[in-house]
Amino acid sequence: MQSLKQQIAQANLPKHIAIIMDGNGRWAKRQGLARVFGHKQGVQTVHNITEAAAELGIRYLTLYAFSTENWNRPKEEVDALMTLLVDTIALETPTLMNNNVRLLTIGDLSRLPENARRKFIDCIAQTAGNTGLSLVLALSYSSRWEITDMARRIAREAAKGRLTAENIDESTVSAYLTTAGIPDPDLLIRTSGELRISNFLLWQLAYAELYFTDRLWPEFSVEDFYTAIIDYQHRERRFGKTSEQVN
Ligand code: FPP
Repeated sequence: MQSLKQQIAQANLPKHIAIIMDGNGRWAKRQGLARVFGHKQGVQTVHNITEAAAELGIRYLTLYAFSTENWNRPKEEVDALMTLLVDTIALETPTLMNNNVRLLTIGDLSRLPENARRKFIDCIAQTAGNTGLSLVLALSYSSRWEITDMARRIAREAAKGRLTAENIDESTVSAYLTTAGIPDPDLLIRTSGELRISNFLLWQLAYAELYFTDRLWPEFSVEDFYTAIIDYQHRERRFGKTSEQVN
């Protein structure tokens, strides 16, 4: 019997996997613990899945770590999440270096507390030369923020005469999003049984395969990750064409 890992076809790996890590709070509640313990356990899952993705040869892994809407959670939870993110980055930078992982961020970093922003910028600079997996953290990110920001920046360029309406095409839009230079995700995974996209990568997910699992993020295992990839590899991606055309 082949292990799940052996069932993954190297020739058909998703180049970019995006994950909505959901269910930390519910996991904690089930154990009778405060929500923050769910986030702490979630960090362990982040560690395991990043390592598994790097080892498989996935090129990009994007994790929805903090949404624009998350700023509206109770202050104690926002503070705890920020501290956890900053501490994790500081602690895990050597692991990223050992695994040849490059850190990138997407989102409105200007909203992060100054010390947090500095930590992320330091880690991005330190890992910039790594050539393996690119780990993309979505921080203070939402698609509607990003799309609004893109429109504003394009309008500014047009006002300065550096862009004309006729010159704007899909590649211009992509170039003004916070994900500029990052290929679109091939596979989106969402944990915890919610069947929503929740303002995440709305433009970029146009042709992504969607995979939903009931597992809560703190209990999402490397085996669950392999199962999602195997499921992806059994899908037929047609990009609007007919089955005959793509085969
Ligand atoms: C969703 O669970 C999770 C989050 C809002 C935060 C995700 C953050 C982590 C896993 C920790 C740090 C991450 C990194 C990249 C180091 P929820 O709180 O919405 O859960 P619920 O829906 O059960 O309430």
